[in-house]
Amino acid sequence: MSIKPRNVIITGAGSGIGAATAQAFAATGDCVHLFDVSQERLDAVSSGMNNVTTHLIDVVDAKKVRHTIEDIEKKFGSIDVLVSNAGIFDGLAGIEQTTPELWDRIIAVNLTGAFNVIKPASEAMVRQKSGRIITISSIAATRTTPDGLSYDASKAGLEGMTRRLAVDLGSYGITANVVAPGVISTGILATSREILGDMIPDTGSDNDATNAKFLEMAVPARRAGQPSEVAATIHFLSSVGAAYINGEVIHVDGGWIAS
Ligand SMILES: NC(=O)c1ccc[n+]([C@@H]2O[C@H](COP(=O)([O-])OP(=O)(O)OC[C@H]3O[C@@H](n4cnc5c(N)ncnc54)[C@H](O)[C@@H]3O)[C@@H](O)[C@H]2O)c1
Repeated sequence: MSIKPRNVIITGAGSGIGAATAQAFAATGDCVHLFDVSQERLDAVSSGMNNVTTHLIDVVDAKKVRHTIEDIEKKFGSIDVLVSNAGIFDGLAGIEQTTPELWDRIIAVNLTGAFNVIKPASEAMVRQKSGRIITISSIAATRTTPDGLSYDASKAGLEGMTRRLAVDLGSYGITANVVAPGVISTGILATSREILGDMIPDTGSDNDATNAKFLEMAVPARRAGQPSEVAATIHFLSSVGAAYINGEVIHVDGGWIAS
């Protein structure tokens, strides 16, 4: 008996955790629909993959997001899994360095952008009476360092929103959970600089969470995590075995939150 491939939407799928997640779902035969603001990154990730569609799309553009998700549902028949992963980082801007423009951009992408994809995807899932929503937060939602003010706020908001989704959607056979990574080896600072330019202040590298001294001090695993380690948890939350996990925050952080 062949199992029907699931339709999995992944935002911010062009690099890092999103790209590893796309690979994890593609490896189990699912049909992956990749959203990103970089066509170059989308092409690199999707190259050689079967059952993939790519969409050059900014999650801030609610109208285009809705249109694209409705189109995927129409063409492929369902939206089974949504991984709301697109996110940008504010460097380490505290209250003094956070301009209103930086605040607005971080909240727009990390929090409103997630709402923009969850809204139409959850409508499809309610129609189907099944679905999995996984949002990607951060240890920053709980620990305030070493991240910036608007980033911390956006990730705490995302966790609050996901808990409410779990309550609203649970009776439809839908689960909503958060994966909150610690320090993961990706190019997020470079990508965010590419997107935000000099909106990100130069706060120096001493507070950089990937620096070896910090990892040695704060993270029991004494190393940064790999994107594939976060992807494995996301994939698990989409599985049949995770059907009764709803409204949870799972930290993938090498033990940082426990220390
Ligand atoms: N790397 C870490 O240490 C870490 C830790 C905790 C949480 N996270 C979270 O994990 C998620 C993925 O981060 P990453 O480290 O893989 O970063 P990354 O920069 O490697 O990947 C992010 C991708 O999102 C895309 N993107 C950015 N803005 C977008 C938008 N408006 N619309 C669509 N796509 C957009 C970028 O082009 C990029 O390809 C983010 O939400 C981030 O906050 C990362």
